[in-house]
Amino acid sequence: MSASGRILAVESSCDETAVAVVDNGRRIVSNVVASQVAVHSATGGIVPEVAARAHLRWMIPVLEQARRQAGIEDWSAIEAVAVTEGPGLAGSLLVGITMAKTLAWLHHLPLVPVNHLEGHIYAAWLLDPDEPDKPAPEFPLIALVVSGGHTFLVEMSGHLTYRLLGQTVDDAAGEAFDKVGRLLGLPYPGGPAIMKAAAGAAQRDRVFPRAWLGETFDFSFSGLKTAARREVARELGTDVNTMGSDGQPLPEPAVAELAYGFQESVVDVLATKTLRAARESAARTIIVGGGVAANSVLRERIADGARASGIRVLVPRPGLCTDNASMIAAAGFFRSRAGARAGTDLSARPSLKLALPTTR
Ligand code: KG4
Ligand code: ZN
Repeated sequence: MSASGRILAVESSCDETAVAVVDNGRRIVSNVVASQVAVHSATGGIVPEVAARAHLRWMIPVLEQARRQAGIEDWSAIEAVAVTEGPGLAGSLLVGITMAKTLAWLHHLPLVPVNHLEGHIYAAWLLDPDEPDKPAPEFPLIALVVSGGHTFLVEMSGHLTYRLLGQTVDDAAGEAFDKVGRLLGLPYPGGPAIMKAAAGAAQRDRVFPRAWLGETFDFSFSGLKTAARREVARELGTDVNTMGSDGQPLPEPAVAELAYGFQESVVDVLATKTLRAARESAARTIIVGGGVAANSVLRERIADGARASGIRVLVPRPGLCTDNASMIAAAGFFRSRAGARAGTDLSARPSLKLALPTTR
C-alpha cells in the first residue's frame, strides 16, 4: 500500500456529485463538484429519486475530470479511496459508495468510510493552492455544523474525537432558510437567496423571535416559519390561517426586510451559543462548517465575537462549506491513518450520527 498521503474521495450524500483528490488531509489537488441545484429548483426542493438518478448520470464524468486534473495515471500513488457512508439520502449515497468500492477493488486500494458531518468539520483543515502556510486548527476546538439537514455543536479534544454539546430539537438551520425562502417566493435554495435579499433591506426593524432554550446548547428553528407566516400575512393584510404556504406575492422591500429579520434571528442564536461554548471549553479554535457557514453575516458575527477572546475562527471558503468531496478526503486521511477500513460489504447509512448526546 502507498503511504503517499494522497486520498481520492467520493461524495454523493445529497444533491452534489463530487470527487476530489487531497494530499495529507490538507492540500487540495483537484476538487470537482456537479451541482444539482438547477435540477431541483423546478420542484423547489430535492426529490430523492431524481437526486439519485442525477448522481448516476454525473458520477463518471466528475470522477474523470478530478482524475485528469490531479494528473492520476498510476493509481498506485493513491493511498486510499474515501467515501461518504452517511448520513444522507439512501439512493444518493449508494451511487457514490458503488463508485468508490469499484475503484478500490479495481486498483487494490483500501476503502475508507467517512461520516459526512465529520467531513464538514474537516473542511477547516483544507488548503487551497494559494494558501500553503495556513496553520491547522488547534485543539481543543468547538465546531458548529450548520447544514440543510443538521445543526449541532461539538467539542473536539483531538482528532476524530467528538463530544456533542447541543443540537437542533426540530429543523436544521439550512432547512429553516429553505422553508422561509420558499414562503417569501425566493429561488431554491433559500439560504443564499435570503442572504442576498437581506443585504438590500432598507428598514431593519422587524424582529423575529429567538429560541434560546435556556442555558442549553440546543437549537430550535421550526417556530421561525410560523413567525414568518404571521409577518407575511400582516404585510398582505390576509388571514394567516387561510394564506398559502409558498411564494407569497410580496413587494420587494418587504421581502428584503423579512429576510433580514429572519436571518438576524438565526445568526444571533447560532453565534451566541457557539461563542459561549468556546469560552466555556477554553477552545483555541472555532470551526464553522456546512452549507449555512457560507453565510457571510454568520461568518462575520462569529469572527467579531471571537476576536476579543483571542480564539481563532476557521470557516472554509463558501465553496468548501457546501457539499464537496475535498472535505471527505480530509476526514478520510485522518480516518485512514487511524486504521478505518471498509470491506466490499460497505452499505449506505442514511441516519448515521457523529456523536451521541452525553450528560454534561
Ligand atoms: O451542507 P449543505 O451543502 O448540504 C447538506 O449537507 O445539507 O447545506 C445546504 C444548506 C441549504 O439549506 C442552503 O440553503 C444552505 O445550506 N445555505 C445557506 C447559504 N448557502 C447555502 N444558508 C444561509 N446562507 C447561505 N449563504
Ligand atoms: Zn452537507
